[in-house]
Amino acid sequence: MKTPFVLTASAALILDLVAAANDTDSQPRFALSNTSQPSGEAYSPPFYPSPWMDPNAPGWEQAYAQAKQFVAGLTLLEKVNLTTGVGWMGEKCVGNVGTVPRLGMRSLCMQDGPLGLRFNDYNSAFDVGLTAAASWSRALWQARGAALGAEAKGKGVDVLLGPVAGPIGRNANGGRNVEGFGPDPVLAGQALSETVIGIQNAGTIACAKHFLLNEQEHFRQVGEANGYGYPISEALSSNVDDKTIHEMYGWPFQDAVKAGVGSVMCSYNQVNNSYACQNSKLINGLLKEEYGFQGFVMSDWQAQHTGAASAVAGLDMTMPGDTLFNTGASYFGSNLTLAVLNGTVPEWRVDDMVMRIMAAFFKVGKTIDSLVETNFDSWTTQDYGFVQAAVNENWEKVNYQVDVRADHANHIREAGAKGTVILKNTGILPLKKPKFLTVVGEDAGGNPAGPNGCGDRGCDDGTLAMEWGSGTTNFPYLITPDQALSAQAIQDGTRYESILSNYDITETQALVGQPDNIAIVFANSDSGEGYISVDGNEGDRNNLTVWKNADTLIKSVAAVNNKVVLVIHSTGPVIVKDYAAHPNISAILWAGAPGQESGNSLVDILYGKQSPGRSPFTWGPSLESYGTEVMMKPNNGNGAPQDDFTEGLFIDYRHFDKVAPNSKSPNAPTYEFGFGLGWSTFKFSGLNVQKNNVGTLNAPTGKTIAAPVLGAPISKNLKDYGFPKNIRRIKEFIYPYLNSVTSGKEASNDANYGQTAKEFLPAGATDGSPQSRSPASGEPGGNRQLYDIVYTVTAIITNTGKVMDDVVPQLYISHGGPNDPPKVLRGFDRIERVAPGQSVIFKADITRRDISNWDTATQQWVVTKFPKTVYVGSSSRNLPLKARLR
Ligand SMILES: *[C@@H]1O[C@H](CO)[C@@H](O)[C@H](O)[C@H]1NC(C)=O
Ligand SMILES: *[C@@H]1O[C@H](CO)[C@@H](O)[C@H](O)[C@H]1NC(C)=O
Ligand SMILES: *[C@@H]1O[C@H](CO)[C@@H](O)[C@H](O)[C@H]1NC(C)=O
Ligand SMILES: *[C@@H]1O[C@H](CO)[C@@H](O)[C@H](O)[C@H]1NC(C)=O
Ligand SMILES: *[C@@H]1O[C@H](CO)[C@@H](O)[C@H](O)[C@H]1NC(C)=O
Ligand SMILES: *[C@@H]1O[C@H](CO)[C@@H](O)[C@H](O)[C@H]1NC(C)=O
Ligand SMILES: *[C@@H]1O[C@H](CO)[C@@H](O)[C@H](O)[C@H]1NC(C)=O
Ligand SMILES: *[C@@H]1O[C@H](CO)[C@@H](O)[C@H](O)[C@H]1NC(C)=O
Repeated sequence: MKTPFVLTASAALILDLVAAANDTDSQPRFALSNTSQPSGEAYSPPFYPSPWMDPNAPGWEQAYAQAKQFVAGLTLLEKVNLTTGVGWMGEKCVGNVGTVPRLGMRSLCMQDGPLGLRFNDYNSAFDVGLTAAASWSRALWQARGAALGAEAKGKGVDVLLGPVAGPIGRNANGGRNVEGFGPDPVLAGQALSETVIGIQNAGTIACAKHFLLNEQEHFRQVGEANGYGYPISEALSSNVDDKTIHEMYGWPFQDAVKAGVGSVMCSYNQVNNSYACQNSKLINGLLKEEYGFQGFVMSDWQAQHTGAASAVAGLDMTMPGDTLFNTGASYFGSNLTLAVLNGTVPEWRVDDMVMRIMAAFFKVGKTIDSLVETNFDSWTTQDYGFVQAAVNENWEKVNYQVDVRADHANHIREAGAKGTVILKNTGILPLKKPKFLTVVGEDAGGNPAGPNGCGDRGCDDGTLAMEWGSGTTNFPYLITPDQALSAQAIQDGTRYESILSNYDITETQALVGQPDNIAIVFANSDSGEGYISVDGNEGDRNNLTVWKNADTLIKSVAAVNNKVVLVIHSTGPVIVKDYAAHPNISAILWAGAPGQESGNSLVDILYGKQSPGRSPFTWGPSLESYGTEVMMKPNNGNGAPQDDFTEGLFIDYRHFDKVAPNSKSPNAPTYEFGFGLGWSTFKFSGLNVQKNNVGTLNAPTGKTIAAPVLGAPISKNLKDYGFPKNIRRIKEFIYPYLNSVTSGKEASNDANYGQTAKEFLPAGATDGSPQSRSPASGEPGGNRQLYDIVYTVTAIITNTGKVMDDVVPQLYISHGGPNDPPKVLRGFDRIERVAPGQSVIFKADITRRDISNWDTATQQWVVTKFPKTVYVGSSSRNLPLKARLR
């Protein structure tokens, strides 16, 4: 998503021309047949028709019935209204659809984002996804979701645009990895689904995003790339094989579907040279058919490129509704009304779009009569503003300053602490009333312009507590490390001084070189969304080193002080190899990006008041060591950059386990995935594997129902769809009505109108007859038998140290095949407050899905004949227990 103020006029203009010339329905971007593909380029196979909702989908039965009753009473224009955004800055939220005034239904409000409410006030600023992931705590994830969902509901937000599992983090320097839960699909999938459950239990629709393979910011959008001087004409294509999509990138979304997620956002990029928001293989084939997704797919902001083509490929809602921001034109709106009237898009497809939207609405417990009015405005911080801020229409009171924070600060503080990872500790931590503490580095202090001083947090000034871009919020306050540490020091009678700069090296050395001093040095590395560039980092990070002279600062401090604690705030891994080996650096902490309670969370860890987390990614010795990195220069002339994911499943620890299997290997990780020190020591023993007989996996039989067409037969007469006489048309606003009731071509205002005749749509696209089922499909989450518990694994964990501590047991499986990663995470738990001497039992259920591989030939999950092994331990490289799975 973007904001208008950073799109330069020229970038916007280029965007317009490209769209006018290329983004029409007459040139559908999905592959119609392989003959239409430039030879040799990756190609996305068609999957049609778009699956319609299943009235008996577990968890959705009641929502389906409620939706059906509602949708059957709607007119075509009302249905179209619910599928179409009113245009960028056309209402109070970052996205709003049309209303149904006849039935008293206000506009549904979509608002960013994954760590709290964007463009808001009196809201909480939560920890980023990656910090949440580092807690490895399902309970905290669900609590975070519940708090996020409650804040959204209280503000009158209906769909919260999060959580994120795409990007998953294929590239260590990817700008938005931090919004998600790290590059392991099981960890990410569990965090994604627990967050979804939390958000939706609170009465808000969650939106799992971005679907799919949006693994870098560079070249995700043509206009944005052109603005940076890359003259590409199409967005980047992520070219990924079927097995990798199933076993890696799609996996977390499958979990979210199983958890009942109400909406999914399709992404900006292309996949196999077909835009994600009109990629029938991805939306129809994978998400709706195979995963059994019953909710609705909305486009990322301006990620829709066609009308009829995207409709039949499975897109259900266009956001923010206009073709490009503020064009006043839409691929849906009037065009969707027309497409139904002229027979291009079947009525059942529009009915299914609206059914999905309304079923998600009812599923989370919403009712038309009990909706909270939207009580804030994204476009002004003042009480009064224009409701249609794009065109200065309808001045009224728009902001009510509703305080929705409740006691969420407690959760944020706890999550920030439990998501802080101690990478190194020679015994200096926990701190105990130190005599003299110094804190150095800009990252310990505040932004001189205030915590919200940079729009969408687009700068790296002061302490880093969230990334930049649309996935941000305004801080209600920000506790800096300097504030919290000085408060603790004063309470303890500790002498305390801080220098909140990375450049005053002489003064800093003079201070930290004094006797009896523990020096905490702060450094950071920031990233974010591609529409903002900070210090030449166009969303993605140019490097994995710390920013703003911090390396020099750290080395200068460690040269004169042998009790150095290094604290890193970052949006992903940074290179800490030298610091890991430095004798004077006694401790290294990764504090992620912890949100508003940053300093308090850190104090809770530094002083041992809470147990820390485990790293949700690998700390490689260099950017190159990861094997994959962001494509920084287009590689296909002016055409779509072609990003071939040739590494397949081998990202992050899967890659390191393959190329650097032991700690002596040249590119061995400095700290491995799953690693983190605690306050105590634990012994793992007593591995036990119990096998359950679950029988064979059966593909679903029988057929779906025919696509329902709901409500009374509609008139096909254009005259019944004109603008009502009594409506005052607002400029740029997107309506469902027709501009002309005499000519479809005039109404569409599309020179190519009429050329998207039925024969141009792919075979089967309009077929509403009962369909047979894909082998791996079944219900939300896929075939129910995938979740059969094949093994139950237990292990005994004993606290062998002197203090109470949390332990994070991890279970990995080797699938045993020659091309399989050496091991993959399949289970974990965070067991809290284990007393010294106490033993606890770690229990993990291993499902059929956990031990299966995706078989491309049969399009089914299969358990291969290769011998499978289970490992249990404390990190991906410390696995003392193992057993064969027989
Ligand atoms: C439209 O797409 C074609 C083929 O991809 C390309 O050659 C042409 O330059 C594009 N037009 C514009 C205006 O970008
Ligand atoms: C299309 O692809 C299929 C499968 O790869 C192949 O058998 C067929 O020959 C191709 N058709 C054309 C026209 O290239
Ligand atoms: C992309 O192409 C690969 C290689 O042909 C294929 O395995 C995969 O299923 C395709 N995926 C999509 C979404 O088109
Ligand atoms: C569609 O939504 C707009 C904007 O809220 C509203 O003015 C209009 O009355 C709605 N149209 C119908 C047919 O309900
Ligand atoms: C219909 O869609 C086309 C692009 O396919 C666009 O140029 C046109 O402006 C749209 N019409 C309306 C009324 O929004
Ligand atoms: C890495 O990027 C940051 C941010 O742009 C910059 O401050 C730092 O100097 C760069 N590091 C190197 C080694 O170039
Ligand atoms: C460690 O710090 C001491 C001062 O306490 C200094 O003399 C020594 O050179 C430092 N060691 C390194 C490797 O920088
Ligand atoms: C039907 O309407 C759509 C939307 O305006 C248009 O793209 C398409 O070309 C039209 N098809 C026919 C056959 O008129």
